[in-house]
Amino acid sequence: MPKHFLTISDIPADEAGQVLVRAKEMKDNAVRTDLLAGKTLLMIFEKASTRTRVSFEVGVRQLGGDPVFIAAKDSQLGRSEPLKDTARVLSRYADGLIVRTFGQEKLETLVEYGDIPVVNALTDEYHPCQIMADVLTMYERTPNLTDLKVAWVGDGNNMAHSFINGSAAFGYELVLACPEGYDPDPAIMDAGVNAGAKVTLVRDPAKAVAGAHYVNTDVWASMGQEEEQKKREAAFAGFEVNGALMAKAAPDAKFMHCLPAHRGEEVSEAVFESPASIVWDQAENRLHMQKAILEWIYT
Ligand code: CP
Ligand code: NVA
Repeated sequence: MPKHFLTISDIPADEAGQVLVRAKEMKDNAVRTDLLAGKTLLMIFEKASTRTRVSFEVGVRQLGGDPVFIAAKDSQLGRSEPLKDTARVLSRYADGLIVRTFGQEKLETLVEYGDIPVVNALTDEYHPCQIMADVLTMYERTPNLTDLKVAWVGDGNNMAHSFINGSAAFGYELVLACPEGYDPDPAIMDAGVNAGAKVTLVRDPAKAVAGAHYVNTDVWASMGQEEEQKKREAAFAGFEVNGALMAKAAPDAKFMHCLPAHRGEEVSEAVFESPASIVWDQAENRLHMQKAILEWIYT
């Protein structure tokens, strides 16, 4: 049975810490291996990407494998060939699928009909590779993750959902502030709590940020929600992470964002460019963490 990485919860609780330590080791020693020698990983993307695409292409090569990028719209998927047919065809050619798409159920179809590992490179519901990299970014500074308060300010979106899963896997406390109507999926909250996540949902960003060691936000309109931009700008008024909000966090608190960022919306220019901002380390850590995830899958 191939291993898949559709959410952080796919990594057994007792292995998540090992993946994290290995990612740090891979970073510190600029590890190159031949783990994926002779293997081809297909990257099917239905949405735009800079970081995920490039860090996976580079990472697969650093592990000795061959990445092949497929823009879904240029393939027969763009002309409605069923995903279950695509899954069976691609399984005959390649050794893994790295997929950025809309609904999480599409990944589940690829798992069901294909017989090679599937990696979630972002769906509407989850962004597990990003949060694994973000956990590495926090761990490098504050190794005792169970002592941390992490704030989420903004949309209860794919990032928020994976931060909930991350709380169960790594033990940090997560307080989310979302405007009414933009909460995380209650089923994902409940499943997270049942798995041990320490999560609280509040309405007031100041409450979420109070004493937090890390303050996270993300765009107000995710990919696929562009037509809701104006409506969301109104709903998220008061949710900008700015200097006044950061001042309520713990001394030396850090600002985090998965990027791309909209300055003047979810984050002020001053906070984004401040010494508290660790966004470039987050982006770099995508490479190291994804190599560790691929090692977890293919070992
Ligand atoms: N953070 C992130 O996933 O970036 P890209 O959309 O550029 O891949
Ligand atoms: N929530 C954002 C994350 C982008 C990396 C989106 O889905 O567009």
